[in-house]
Amino acid sequence: MNHLHQAFSVRFTYTVFFTTQLFTKANSLLSDFFRQQSTNDARKKLLFVIDSGVMDAHPDLQAEIRTYFTQHTDIVDLIPELLIIPGGETAKNEPIFVEKIVDAVDKYGIDRHSYVVAIGGGSILDLVGYAAAISHRGIRHIRIPTTVLSQNDSGVGVKNGVNYRGRKIFWGLLCRPLRFLMTVLF
Ligand SMILES: NC(=O)c1ccc[n+]([C@@H]2O[C@H](COP(=O)([O-])OP(=O)(O)OC[C@H]3O[C@@H](n4cnc5c(N)ncnc54)[C@H](O)[C@@H]3O)[C@@H](O)[C@H]2O)c1
Repeated sequence: MNHLHQAFSVRFTYTVFFTTQLFTKANSLLSDFFRQQSTNDARKKLLFVIDSGVMDAHPDLQAEIRTYFTQHTDIVDLIPELLIIPGGETAKNEPIFVEKIVDAVDKYGIDRHSYVVAIGGGSILDLVGYAAAISHRGIRHIRIPTTVLSQNDSGVGVKNGVNYRGRKIFWGLLCRPLRFLMTVLF
């Protein structure tokens, strides 16, 4: 029987940065990163998705993010709507949260030059990584882990996924689209 035998390999690399007080004016880690990534052909947009538990613990976080990026409008465009999603396993159990992120990617024209940025525990990182990976076959993604577990595991690794009909991480994938990971202590 005639047949074709095909093979391909894809090599991904990413960097893990460690910092604290990420959105303070004195911390240029993020702005330096985006400046290095900037190209003339396309503006980069940032869509933030934030764990509700982090928001409860850090009520000024949204304002800090907005202030930070108003100082850097020359390099990136912050999407004004910051998505807040319930933290914990709920985020991975309810398909509506995948849809919410994918709908925002569509609504705000987040393309493959742009980034989806997740701030939260491992559940939110798993959810956002999955939604970013299935949108346009992989949007650039930044993970900002906020729990001890996620700073040691999902925040520095390459696994993404959500639960399906109560079965853990039934929908999921490895690796793509991670480009940049960060551990942050607020
Ligand atoms: N992808 C991977 O490689 C990997 C590895 C290990 C675990 N996981 C997944 O990670 C999940 C568990 O993650 P987790 O232990 O980080 O917990 P979590 O993400 O489930 O969060 C637990 C609770 O802490 C809250 N929270 C998060 N950050 C906070 C902060 N800074 N201040 C206050 N509250 C905060 C959340 O809102 C939530 O209520 C599981 O779903 C597990 O499957 C994934």
